Amino acid sequence: MERQTQKDLLRFLTCGSVDDGKSTLIGNLLYNCNEVSEDGLARLHAQSQSGGRAGADLDYSLLVDGLMAEREQGITIDVAYRYFSTPRRKFIVADTPGHEQYTRNMATGASNSDLAILLVDARKGVQIQTKRHSKIVSMMGIRHLVLAVNKMDMVGYDQEVFDHIDQDYRAFAQKLGDCEIQAIPLSALKGDNVSKQSECMPWYSGPNLQEHLETADVRVQSTGDAFRMPVQWVNRPNASFRGYCGMVCAGKVGIGDAVRITPSGETTCIASILSPDGEVSLAEAGDSITLTFEDERDISRGNVIAAADDPPSVSDQFAAHILWMHQQPLLPGRQLQLRLGAQSVNAAITELKYVIDYTDNSHDAGKVLGFNETGYCNLALDRPVVFDTFENNRDMGSFILVDKLTNETVGAGMIAFGLRRADNVHWQAMDVDKLVRARLKSQKPCVLWFTGLSGSGKSTIANLLEKRLLAQGHHTYLLDGDNVRHGLNRDLGFTDADRVENIRRIAEVSNLMVDAGLLVLVSFISPFRSERRMARQMVEEDEFIEVFVDTPLAVCEERDVKGLYKKARAGEIKNFTGIDSPYEPPETPDIHLQADQQSPEKLAEAVFAALEERGIV
Ligand code: ADX
Repeated sequence: MERQTQKDLLRFLTCGSVDDGKSTLIGNLLYNCNEVSEDGLARLHAQSQSGGRAGADLDYSLLVDGLMAEREQGITIDVAYRYFSTPRRKFIVADTPGHEQYTRNMATGASNSDLAILLVDARKGVQIQTKRHSKIVSMMGIRHLVLAVNKMDMVGYDQEVFDHIDQDYRAFAQKLGDCEIQAIPLSALKGDNVSKQSECMPWYSGPNLQEHLETADVRVQSTGDAFRMPVQWVNRPNASFRGYCGMVCAGKVGIGDAVRITPSGETTCIASILSPDGEVSLAEAGDSITLTFEDERDISRGNVIAAADDPPSVSDQFAAHILWMHQQPLLPGRQLQLRLGAQSVNAAITELKYVIDYTDNSHDAGKVLGFNETGYCNLALDRPVVFDTFENNRDMGSFILVDKLTNETVGAGMIAFGLRRADNVHWQAMDVDKLVRARLKSQKPCVLWFTGLSGSGKSTIANLLEKRLLAQGHHTYLLDGDNVRHGLNRDLGFTDADRVENIRRIAEVSNLMVDAGLLVLVSFISPFRSERRMARQMVEEDEFIEVFVDTPLAVCEERDVKGLYKKARAGEIKNFTGIDSPYEPPETPDIHLQADQQSPEKLAEAVFAALEERGIV
C-alpha cells in the first residue's frame, strides 16, 4: 500500500481515432501491466479467436472497445479514465472519443493531463486531425507530447517512413511553442515498442512507449510559485470560528504569512492552517486546507487568497485563446456566462482578433468562431474577476464559457493577459443622476422594446405611440432600425454576427437614454432572444417593456411595404429575416400585439393603456 501511494502519478491522454489504433494501444498497455482480470483475459482470448481484428494475434482493442459499444447504445461518455500502474509509476489515462464532434471531451481530458500521446497511422502520416489535437493540447498547457507512429508493421518497419513523419510533425510543431516531443515507431497490434523494444526496428534506439511514460519528467509544469488558494467554501459552524476552505493551486503558505485577499485587495496574516489530518504549519500546491486569519475579514466563495507581495490580476477585460465547441458559431457581442474556478460572470467577446488555422498554425481573419475552431479574442466581463495568465497558472488562467439559456458548456478559454485599458478607466461619479433628470421631466424613464418581423408594423405603431406620448407632455426618443443603420450602425449588415452587434449597440444607447430620463421607443427586428435579454438586463427590472408585434410572416409578406420580401424570395437579398434568417419570437413578452387583427391606431392605444396601467404615464 505504502509503496503504491508513494509512487508518482502521470496523467496523460491519447488523441487519435479508433482507426489509428488508439484502443489497441491502450488495451496493449493495460494487458502488459497486468491490469486485466482473469475473466477479461479469458474473454479476450475467446473473442480474439472468433473474429477479432488481429487475425491470429490477440485483439487488445477488445479490452477498451466496450466504450464504443456503450456509445452506440446511446450512453453518453465524455471521457473515460483508466487507471494502471507499473512498478515505477501510476498512470491515469484519459481516453476521449476521437470523432470531430468530441473535441470538447478532448479538451476536458487535456485540462488535467501532463502528457499527450498523438497517434498517427504510419501509412497516412500526419493528418489535419493530428494538428488540431496538437494545437488544442498545447493550448491547454500540455508540454510533453508523444508522437506514436503506429502500424509500423504495415509499412515493413521502414525507418524512412518513420523519419519522414517525424520530420513532418516537428516542422509543424515548431510553432506550438515550448514542447518536448518524443516520437516512437510502434505497432500497437504486434506490441512493437509498446512495452518492450522491438526486434523488427533495430534502427530505433529511443525508449519504448511504456519506458517513456515511466520516466518522462513532467514535474516542471509552468505553475507559478506565488501562493494561490481560490475559496471554495466559507466554514462558519458557530460564531467563534470562521475558516476558508479550498485547494492550494500554486505555491506554499505558512502560519504568519502575509496574504492578500482578491479582488478586495485587503491584506491580513494566516493564523492557522487546518488539513484533513489536523493542524499543520505549512501547505503547498495540491493540498486541501482550511485557513483562518488573525483578524476578521469579509471573504466569500470565488475570492482568491494569494501571496501579499505577488497577487493575481483583477480585471474585467482580458485577451484569451478560445476553443469553441458548439455547432452554432460564437458571435462576438453575444453574452455568455464565464466560469473561472468558483467565479461566475457575464462575458462577451469584444473583438475576435484572428482564427487559428490548424494546418500551419497561421492566423486567419474571421468575424465569427466556428465549431472546433480556436480564436484569439478580447473579452469584456460585467464585473472584475481574479485570474493569472494561463502560462503562469493553469487553474487560475483557464475558464469555460456556458450558454446562458441552455447551460451547455460551449467554449474553453486560456487567458493571455489582462487588458491595461481596463485598469486605467474608472467609473466617474456624477452629481446629476437619472433620478434628477427624470424628476425634472416628471416621468418614469423606460425602454419600450418593439420586436417583430420586417413589415410587422413596429415602426408605424411606435411612431403613433410617440406622438401620443408627446401630446401628453412626455419626453421621448424613437430609435428605429432602418434609421440607425444609416448612421451609428452603417457599418453593419444582416449576418447573425452583425445583428448581434446592431442590437448590442442599441441596447447600450437605450440604456444611456433611460439614464437621460427619457421614454425610449426601440423599433428593431431584434430577432434573437439572447440579445433582447441582454438589453433587458442592462436597465433596471421595471424599466424594460418588451412589445411583441406579432404579425404572421404571410401577412408581412403580403403587405411587403418596401418590396423586400419579393427580392428576398427572388434570392436578391440574402439573410432576410423569416426567409433565410431566423426570428425567435418572445416567449413571455410584456405586451403581446396580435398585429394583423387591429389597426395601428388601436394597437398604439393598447400600448398606451398598458403604460398607464404600469404607472409609466
Ligand atoms: S435587426 O435584425 O438587426 O434587428 P433592423 O431592425 O436593424 O434588423 O433592420 C431591419 C430593416 O432592415 C428591415 O425592416 C428592412 O427594411 C431592412 N432590411 C434589409 N435587409 C434585410 C434583411 N436581410 N433582413 C431583415 N431586414 C432587412
